[in-house]
Amino acid sequence: MRRVVRETRVHAAQLVLPMFVHAGPEPRPIGSMPGVQQHSIGTLRRAAVEAAEAGVGGVMLFGVPARRDATGTEATDPDGILNRATAAVVAEVGDAVVVSTDLCLDEFTDHGHCGVLDDAGRVDNDATLERYAEMALAQAEAGSVLLGLSGMMDGQVAAVRDALDAAGRTDVATLAYAAKYASAYYGPFREAVDSQLTGDRRTYQLDPANAREGLREAALDVEEGADVVMVKPALPYLDVLRQVADSSPVPVWAYQVSGEYAMLEAAAAHGWIAREAAIAEALTSIVRAGADAVLTYWATEVAATLEDR
Ligand code: PBG
Repeated sequence: MRRVVRETRVHAAQLVLPMFVHAGPEPRPIGSMPGVQQHSIGTLRRAAVEAAEAGVGGVMLFGVPARRDATGTEATDPDGILNRATAAVVAEVGDAVVVSTDLCLDEFTDHGHCGVLDDAGRVDNDATLERYAEMALAQAEAGSVLLGLSGMMDGQVAAVRDALDAAGRTDVATLAYAAKYASAYYGPFREAVDSQLTGDRRTYQLDPANAREGLREAALDVEEGADVVMVKPALPYLDVLRQVADSSPVPVWAYQVSGEYAMLEAAAAHGWIAREAAIAEALTSIVRAGADAVLTYWATEVAATLEDR
């Protein structure tokens, strides 16, 4: 009876796996995210194949560069780690899953901010848009088909869309991190990408107290041409997710972030929570709240074990 009256089901195709890659020959573990690693290009390829075989809908790639500078030069270098890794993953699984890339400067800058800085050391929104436009073309060239605009600069969707269209890349889509909150739940991610950030991102990410503002950001991104909008983090923002899902004319995705992963894995490691049941419940809740797809570090594991419970 429960099976036949069930309202929400999570499908493998709705799961998108975020993956980290660095330039070294060996993968490196991420202490605060047990089970997640900074891949080498070799292990990244294998993990992408595993994800595709499990049936995930896509992968989202993050690069951890060996060198960083003020403007994040490596982000737009075709030989930079993220662009090389993208080409490798596209060659491996590009026909089977959506290969997308994080389009943001924070991994590549020596100050760790998502944009370039002005003379006073503040994030310069409009100068950053120029870098994002260049990055979009480099990522499209590498084979990414969905650009993850996670930097929260005003006008970033329009800037990237214009640059892509002007270059004839109407085939590349944009995923706008529309309602992205200045969240403590990104803590483990900062370790995952060796973030150089001191301070915080409160001048460009949203105040956790504001739901209406998240809706407005999503509407603006749609106006600018976003193909998908995102709410992030997921579980602490299910109300925002529901409201965006109710009003968005484009697909709405949610990002179950590093801190959500770490909390649950840590509790499970202590035997304080039933790991698989808690993961399934969290993902079901995110889909129930309106997510059409979910970025989750458990994507491969869950996709491989999904059954009609
Ligand atoms: C920015 C970016 C961040 C995450 C995804 N893209 C970090 C931030 O905004 O500080 C966080 C993802 C996670 O915590 O799992 N490039």
